[in-house]
Amino acid sequence: MNTKKLIAGNWKMNGCLAANQTLMHELLSGVGQPACDVAVCPPAPYLAQVRQLLAASRVIDLGAQDVSQHEGGAFTGDVSATMLRDFGVRYCLCGHSERRLHQGETDVQVALKVKRALAAGITPIVCVGETLREREEGMTEFIVKRQLSAVIHLNGHCISEIVVAYEPVWAIGTGQTATPAQAQSVHAVLRAQLKAATDQAGRIRILYGGSMNAANAAELLAQPDIDGGLIGGASLKALDFLKIVAAAG
Ligand code: PGA
Repeated sequence: MNTKKLIAGNWKMNGCLAANQTLMHELLSGVGQPACDVAVCPPAPYLAQVRQLLAASRVIDLGAQDVSQHEGGAFTGDVSATMLRDFGVRYCLCGHSERRLHQGETDVQVALKVKRALAAGITPIVCVGETLREREEGMTEFIVKRQLSAVIHLNGHCISEIVVAYEPVWAIGTGQTATPAQAQSVHAVLRAQLKAATDQAGRIRILYGGSMNAANAAELLAQPDIDGGLIGGASLKALDFLKIVAAAG
């Protein structure tokens, strides 16, 4: 049973050398010895910089925002899982809704990315979530189960090595957070689905993401099936991110 929560910052396409340095300095000097696991996911070009800034730290792990579904070769612009591993990447987001939307990533592609990450020893953070329209049409359960089932199908017994992130699309970057009860009920659905796939489901962390912030984190993280958070906007402000880390203690 993995009882340690995970708080991961998804910087998205934000940052620059100077801003990253300041943010990491503030995070490293304020984080102390947290009770949870902590990770930051900078844009790919800054992985090397952030890795270097983290070098002395055993507390914050490095994550990537995406990985190629291919192993290597003629895939211009792609970054492979083994390349990420070379830079000390410990986690990798797979199937973030912004990639599903803007890059047209399918469930099958996401499942392949998860497979590549696992093969390279990187923990995939598999993102699932419904749009506002899908929620209004009563499709939430169907959508998240379909998204997770593709990953389970392709990754079989390795499934206990993943992290899942439930991110309702309508809550991302909108300031409109799912209520703790709304989030918990979807997390319970996902937990049940994982239980049907592996007897190790209890140790798979299911994160909530979507406008989680310093003010609402504690209540969300208190839900029985919410094992951490995937934080976008609030992860760019050191104080806010550190408050969320503290709330996960
Ligand atoms: P947000 O983003 O916290 O800014 O809503 C979360 C995410 O997209 O991972």
